Amino acid sequence: MAFMNRRDSLRKAATATATALTGVRLKALTRLPGANSEAEKTAVLRFPDRFLFGAATSSVQIEGASKEDGKGESIWDRFARVPGNIRDGSTPDVACDSYHRWPEDVDLLKRMKLQSFRFSISWPRIFPAGHGAINQKGLDHYSRLVDALLAANIQPLITAFHWDLPQALEEAGGWPNRDTASHFADYAGLLAKTYGDRAQRWCLLNEPQAFTVAGYGWGVHAPGKKDRGLMLRATHCANLAQGLGFRAMKAQNTKLQLGIAHDFDLGQPLTDSDVDRAAWKRFDAFRNLWFIEPAFTGKYPEAFEGGVPAEAMGLKPGDEVILKVPLDYSGVNYYCGREYFAAGEKQNLLHGLDSHAENAKERFYPQGMPEVLLRMTRQYPRPIEITETGWEGKDVPDAEGRVRDPERIHYLRTALTGVHQAMAEGADVRSLHVWSLLDDWESGFAPRIGLTYVEHNNHQKRILKDYGIWYGEVARTRKIGA
Ligand code: FCB
Repeated sequence: MAFMNRRDSLRKAATATATALTGVRLKALTRLPGANSEAEKTAVLRFPDRFLFGAATSSVQIEGASKEDGKGESIWDRFARVPGNIRDGSTPDVACDSYHRWPEDVDLLKRMKLQSFRFSISWPRIFPAGHGAINQKGLDHYSRLVDALLAANIQPLITAFHWDLPQALEEAGGWPNRDTASHFADYAGLLAKTYGDRAQRWCLLNEPQAFTVAGYGWGVHAPGKKDRGLMLRATHCANLAQGLGFRAMKAQNTKLQLGIAHDFDLGQPLTDSDVDRAAWKRFDAFRNLWFIEPAFTGKYPEAFEGGVPAEAMGLKPGDEVILKVPLDYSGVNYYCGREYFAAGEKQNLLHGLDSHAENAKERFYPQGMPEVLLRMTRQYPRPIEITETGWEGKDVPDAEGRVRDPERIHYLRTALTGVHQAMAEGADVRSLHVWSLLDDWESGFAPRIGLTYVEHNNHQKRILKDYGIWYGEVARTRKIGA
């Protein structure tokens, strides 16, 4: 899903083309496997003891303190200052102030009896200039957080890079510059050395699709570039970073469990015609597999008419060896709806800016969860950590100070039912992290997606929503239903 203006783009692309599709055809396709039956709704579903219920966040979206304790500028700090880039004109300067209020956040996790916390480390807090001099205060901050989590019996799952690239690296070319992959590996190696004795589960990169395509192709994410060549180079560099970062971390500690968080779009051809099927296949290759297949095979999937644009991507001989790495798990971020693909004349932004697929999309589709988990299990067999899922809303506290948000509870209940189903069918799912612990900063402060309501203008007061209370009960009892 990602930052909201990326979603808005998705929505726009979808509605612009949806009119071309007949309602009848769409309706016919909406009865899909995974939809909740009445029986499923009332059955009690238990999760095994080793399954971890968790919540997720990222540094730039919650920390604030954007200039404190030696932190360098990130591309989001810069991007948010350009008028027009952020809907409500806000910046990540304060966000949820978690850099100072993290003990309260750990308390929220404890109240919900959660067993895993996914958070990210801000690269410019550790290396203010992206590489070179280390900022010890930054390292110490996350050390305190890791210790507090462990003391509360909450397992950390740490993301090394969740989009806040040091601005200094952007000025040197950013993700399209191959040096960024080497700097990332040095940074990731330092993280493994510093925290690896205490934190075993790591996510190298969050949604490389988002920070490369939305950041360098569409220009709706930092650093706001709109250039197909930059985008293609950025995608290759992110894959190199995956390969180099994996090796650098394992060199410090072979026991670390390393993976990447990918967001998926479910899809299918609108009709059985060859052109519609080809349109879906190309979309799928770029949208879903572009950062997975190279780790598995060292090769890129066939996403572009005319083959892999190797020259434009800056591929060099020997890169396939770097790309191929035995990741320990697949990270799944699941939010998106189902899309229907038909060949057409319009350019589809999602598809690398050069394919000719049209799509229509159903949003709010939690029942798609098992399909993603089972597909990953079949195609790339390894354990799965659900690194993000959840749904946003607009609910605010009522007169009694309660935030009643049945839609989000319905989403999560359905998604969890799907996780249970996928596990019963063979998916080795280890954990689920609801995005997000807090109503965070996502290119602005609305809509709200937290388990916890945050009064950003009232001392950052945190109120557990009904959503969080419900989820806490699930985490405590390890079951849903009844
Ligand atoms: C995901 C991102 C995360 C957040 C959610 C809503 O795509 O990984 O940072 O923005 O969407």
